[in-house]
Amino acid sequence: MKYKSLSAMALAIAGVSFAFSEAHAAQISSPSGSIVLNAEVVDSIPVYSVNYKGKPVILPSKLGFELADGPDMMDGFSLISTSTSSFDETWNPVWGENKNIRNNYNELLVKLDQPRCYRKMNLRFRVYDDGIGFRYEFPQEGVLTYFIIKEEHSQFAMAGDHTAWWIAGDYDTQEYDYTESRLSEIRSKMSEAICSNASQTLFSPTGVQTSLQMKTDDGIYINLHEAALIDYSCMHLNLDDKNMVFESWLTPDAQGNKGHMQSPCHTPWRTVMIADNACDILASNLILNLNEPCAYDDTSWIKPVKYVGVWWEMIAGPQEWSYTSDVPSVKLNKHDYTALKPHGKHAANNANVRKYIDFAAEHGFDQVLVEGWNIGWEDWFGHSKDYVFDFQTPYPDFDVDALNSYANSKGVKLMMHHETSASVRNYERHMDAAYKFMEKHGYNAVKSGYVGNMLPRGEHHYSQWINNHYLYAVTEAAKHKIMVNAHEAVRPTGLCRTYPNLIGNESARGTEYEAFAGNKPFHTTVLPFTRLQGGPMDYTPGIFDMDMKEVNPDGNGHVNSTIARQLGLYVTMYSPLQMAADVPEVYNRFMDAFQFIKDVAVDWDESKYLEAEPGRYIVAARKAKGKNDWFIGCTANEDGHSSDLKLDFLDADKKYEATIYADADDAHYATNPQAYKITKKKVNSKTRLKLKAAPGGGYAISIKPIN
Ligand code: NOJ
Ligand code: CA
Repeated sequence: MKYKSLSAMALAIAGVSFAFSEAHAAQISSPSGSIVLNAEVVDSIPVYSVNYKGKPVILPSKLGFELADGPDMMDGFSLISTSTSSFDETWNPVWGENKNIRNNYNELLVKLDQPRCYRKMNLRFRVYDDGIGFRYEFPQEGVLTYFIIKEEHSQFAMAGDHTAWWIAGDYDTQEYDYTESRLSEIRSKMSEAICSNASQTLFSPTGVQTSLQMKTDDGIYINLHEAALIDYSCMHLNLDDKNMVFESWLTPDAQGNKGHMQSPCHTPWRTVMIADNACDILASNLILNLNEPCAYDDTSWIKPVKYVGVWWEMIAGPQEWSYTSDVPSVKLNKHDYTALKPHGKHAANNANVRKYIDFAAEHGFDQVLVEGWNIGWEDWFGHSKDYVFDFQTPYPDFDVDALNSYANSKGVKLMMHHETSASVRNYERHMDAAYKFMEKHGYNAVKSGYVGNMLPRGEHHYSQWINNHYLYAVTEAAKHKIMVNAHEAVRPTGLCRTYPNLIGNESARGTEYEAFAGNKPFHTTVLPFTRLQGGPMDYTPGIFDMDMKEVNPDGNGHVNSTIARQLGLYVTMYSPLQMAADVPEVYNRFMDAFQFIKDVAVDWDESKYLEAEPGRYIVAARKAKGKNDWFIGCTANEDGHSSDLKLDFLDADKKYEATIYADADDAHYATNPQAYKITKKKVNSKTRLKLKAAPGGGYAISIKPIN
């Protein structure tokens, strides 16, 4: 243990209030005693419940499994034994919101027997001051060796009709706008909630995805998610909306099975975060703490990245990923592309990429993402083809050697792009050669993607085998010292602690949807409570030109944000991977505001959430890694937000200058998004800053010490 204060140890010991009320029940509390968990066997069924400061958060909820190849594990259990332990250590992530993370919990292990089937099953509960985690463990005892899960039936019984921020349950996408409603309204709002999304594999009118954020009428924030999703299917939640009981609903494979298991094995952790202050939900490290420590000995090659990219001009149009409109008739990597007629809209061409490299070098960015550099884009989407990309053959107008050496000569790296078109076998066939190709040409980061229906057909984006694939792509990449940012992959569950070369994921509706349809103005006030709980998101902020018609005469999207909020997102949307997503021509028109993106850090010593309410506003302050510079960001919903910030986190003996990038008085996300004002102010630890965010607006502040 690296850290253990005496008082924390005393509390931890006092907190293990462990008692048998009867021979079949056990109780354990969190280190401070605020959270109390009960586990018992009722009528031969394992049941748990959770209280927070004396109030029920999880009412008695059943735990169990249906198996596809044997009798169920829903009842017939008896308790063999219970035991408790405590844990308290502080660990240091390779990158993160904080350089020190305390992992302090009390643990209860419940050993169960299902005598009629000669099977054993353990339940491991960890109780923290900010929530609980539990998982099922299947020891290699009794007759349970190989088994197939038909469904996991873990219940989360709510104590009321809470307000929830939710997206529809779906086996293939998370790229939804959020809906805020009572739990009882999920069913009636479901069709409206799904209408904005193209790819849907809906399974229930009351099915939702995790991480699910809720708030009770008496002000308790509850978040349901999972941690350490490895070799298992991703968990959705299905609501019994008469009784307000959520139950796990796993993603099936092509045969409809939900997990192929071999003991000894265990499920991921099922998590319940609990706090009476929304800021504490954002500051929680529960998910990371429930993941295993870093699996790599050498992490010196893993570095946070700020990047620009040949990207928005294709997302917003009118440029293209493809080089030609002709669909080649022979296998793509055998085709002579130089014989094909270019359509003239190929963005990943030598001249354009050089322009981005120059821009990145001039403004201090680490990398330039280039999408559409490789052959295959003419024929990649919607044709359910198993063989599209080879990830190694550039188009004729992309000189991979010359561009990489040009970038390197300017201290910049190119970022690789692997769109797999969800053809996983094809990607695995090419993966080793593709990573070697990257190493040879000096790439150390890849943005990958899984757009479209999964191949093999009938498989989904979040089932056990594909989750294993996503992790395989990360661990194979590590062998080549490559960092991975996977889009359309399963939503993160804290695996970046164990595998820190997983520097980003999309797994939610990102900025790209602003170009297609526009996100709800409150979107970025929800994401940190939900999607970001499991790990960083490649949200790609930094759009300064909100009107898609200006970018592309055929475009009809509108970025529902002010410029000041786009800046604030670099702080509120924590990620070690941050893109400045707009095109250089636009940034050149707003160089004074762009300065914040140049200055903002991507790795931190310390983070503080100053003001937060899901769906309303978030204000975060972060101290740059190894420096005395602080950055503050705010994002607000369509009502705007008034802040009253105490800067008491600054060093008391230092003076600072703050540069404040705020919405102008008449700014508005829909009608006047580019109106901002930049002011400078001397501040110290006693300063109070009153600031206003416009409707759909925000602000950003950089604070630097004055010597
Ligand atoms: C979807 C990704 O989210 C986007 O960033 C990417 O440009 C396209 N797929 C093409 O791969
Ligand atoms: Ca996407």
